[in-house]
Amino acid sequence: MRRAPVLGRVPTASEGAVRDVAGSPPARPRIAVVGAGRCGSALAIAAHRAGYTISAVTSRTPEHARALAARVGAQVVDSAVAATRHADLILLTVPDSEITRVAATIAASGASLGGRGLVHCSGAHPASVLAAARHGAGAVGSVHPLQSLTGGDAAGALRGSYFAIEADERLRPVLERLVGDLGGIPFAVPAGGRVLYHAAAVLAGNAPLALVARAAALLESAGVDADVAAEALASLLEGAARNVRRLGVRSALTGPVVRNDAATVDRHLEALRRDPATRRLYRDLASETLRTAGGVGREEVAAVLAAAGSPSGARRRVGRRRAVHTGVAALAPAPAQA
Ligand SMILES: NC(=O)c1ccc[n+]([C@@H]2O[C@H](COP(=O)([O-])OP(=O)(O)OC[C@H]3O[C@@H](n4cnc5c(N)ncnc54)[C@H](OP(=O)(O)O)[C@@H]3O)[C@@H](O)[C@H]2O)c1
Repeated sequence: MRRAPVLGRVPTASEGAVRDVAGSPPARPRIAVVGAGRCGSALAIAAHRAGYTISAVTSRTPEHARALAARVGAQVVDSAVAATRHADLILLTVPDSEITRVAATIAASGASLGGRGLVHCSGAHPASVLAAARHGAGAVGSVHPLQSLTGGDAAGALRGSYFAIEADERLRPVLERLVGDLGGIPFAVPAGGRVLYHAAAVLAGNAPLALVARAAALLESAGVDADVAAEALASLLEGAARNVRRLGVRSALTGPVVRNDAATVDRHLEALRRDPATRRLYRDLASETLRTAGGVGREEVAAVLAAAGSPSGARRRVGRRRAVHTGVAALAPAPAQA
């Protein structure tokens, strides 16, 4: 039996209500996925595993839609407008630059969203970018998994992840239940804070990978095997993330800056002289580490960093000896603790 979309009006029992009726949890909507990429695949597979019906998949490349549809038992449809007809909840997992265009296509088609929910998964955009497609009793929203998703194989990573939700009143409980069923934790980000929210996500989620790439290059220069370097740094990053969760950022900080070990920081900066870009990065991030840890009792390391940032890049005397190190090899004898 074909189910009518049910958001926005009181449903009959046989329709399988999406909306929250008299405090009961909202029923599970049939989901259509528009965009079978990294995020769409992870969400579709996680929802499928959690017992949701993925009713339709569409994507720019039909082959990608077919591959995802096969994994979640969905039918392939040829457009976002067709997907809208096949589901109660439509997830737009297209690139940010495509969201308003796809929403405009749905709006221009005249297809009513009546009773359905249309949701994008962008971190940077508010739900209101979908307003044009909100016909009749339809509801719009956004649900952004604050996680790094690389495709269907990352579905398991959604468990324990935070999801920023912004949605019309009728739709919010449905999205909160979906997130809960995926093992995630829903939280709210006000529409006016979206850009800062996303900038924060990029800093914490993407920037460390750029740092890992630099660190891996240094390890290789120091003679460490590339595979070992990648594994070792991933393990180091995981340990740091676990400590942040357990202790909070300030207590999780370790390393020479926190210990006010100015001599070691000085040796690092000296060893990096032949690689000015990495040296600048090291200095700027060490300065940020110092700000996070607090400057009191860390005056010596602050002085070394300030001297490294001076126009002449002058080296500051540390303690009694003025160590001379050249090349990355100078990193090798440094204490092993991270
Ligand atoms: N990846 C993440 O870690 C992550 C995390 C949270 C949120 N998000 C959000 O998820 C959204 C998608 O990001 P992504 O990383 O998954 O990008 P992605 O891997 O590039 O996937 C985007 C998908 O959309 C499809 N597509 C592009 N234009 C389309 C159109 N006009 N109609 C239908 N399908 C279209 C692409 O098509 P084909 O592959 O079929 O050619 C691709 O499969 C973004 O809003 C992003 O902010 C991503």
